[in-house]
Amino acid sequence: MTTALQILQSKVPYQPELAIVLGSGLGALADSAEARNGITIPFTDLPGFPAPTVEGHGGKLVFCEFEGRKVVLQAGRFHFYEGHPMPLVVSPMRLYGRLGVKTVMLTNAAGALNPAFGVGELMALTDHINFFGTNPLIGPNVGPGPRFPDMTAIYDAGLRSHLLACAQQLGQTVREGVYLGLTGPSYETPAEIRAFRLLGADAVGMSTVPEAIVARQEGMRVAGISCLCNMGAGILPQALTHKEVLEAGAAAAGRFEALIRAFVRGLV
Ligand code: HPA
Repeated sequence: MTTALQILQSKVPYQPELAIVLGSGLGALADSAEARNGITIPFTDLPGFPAPTVEGHGGKLVFCEFEGRKVVLQAGRFHFYEGHPMPLVVSPMRLYGRLGVKTVMLTNAAGALNPAFGVGELMALTDHINFFGTNPLIGPNVGPGPRFPDMTAIYDAGLRSHLLACAQQLGQTVREGVYLGLTGPSYETPAEIRAFRLLGADAVGMSTVPEAIVARQEGMRVAGISCLCNMGAGILPQALTHKEVLEAGAAAAGRFEALIRAFVRGLV
């Protein structure tokens, strides 16, 4: 049986150094000029990769030369709330590990809990709280990584300071904070948001945590950015909608793209 890894290796004649996972509303990079000149592989061409089910999520890998670097752009991801098993949720990270990718940038849409943060701002992840109620490493230990991987510095401090320096050069404000990841798909209640705030979370979302754990176990450097698309439930006197999340992502897309481009260009 031909595996997803074999297909990628047969179609892509080089080793990407960086993988960028594009979250809701942030997928435009995968349609950029560089991406159009690259090698696009729809998820549905890869054995075991179903088509994404969520509006605003594409479903393809684009291998391309981007800001002078060989990268793989991932538009769309597998969410646990779609009913996918954890091994599928993290399978792109396993592939990147096997492909020799050194650095993974995980991006997502998130709700802001920190009242000092505003809608449309970007937040570099300093750490996370795993509220999925499970762990993607449960089961036989896959791959070369350790059974009990250290998560003390899951989000690479060097990548984060590079990102913040890029933001400063661009005149952008990028926040720093702790991302709390949970399954969804319901948004949180106001009581949950208050509780998560007490736990030390600055943002909440439905992805990234499983991928970050596996990417780290694979020995890759991990960076994370949240686009704060709404204030957490109950912070403002209004209900949350997926539409507003997508719209806030789209409104931030230009700044996000400029930041990612600078980040890739100057990556060491
Ligand atoms: N909660 C959880 N996930 C999210 C949110 C939120 O408020 N906004 C975008 N993704």
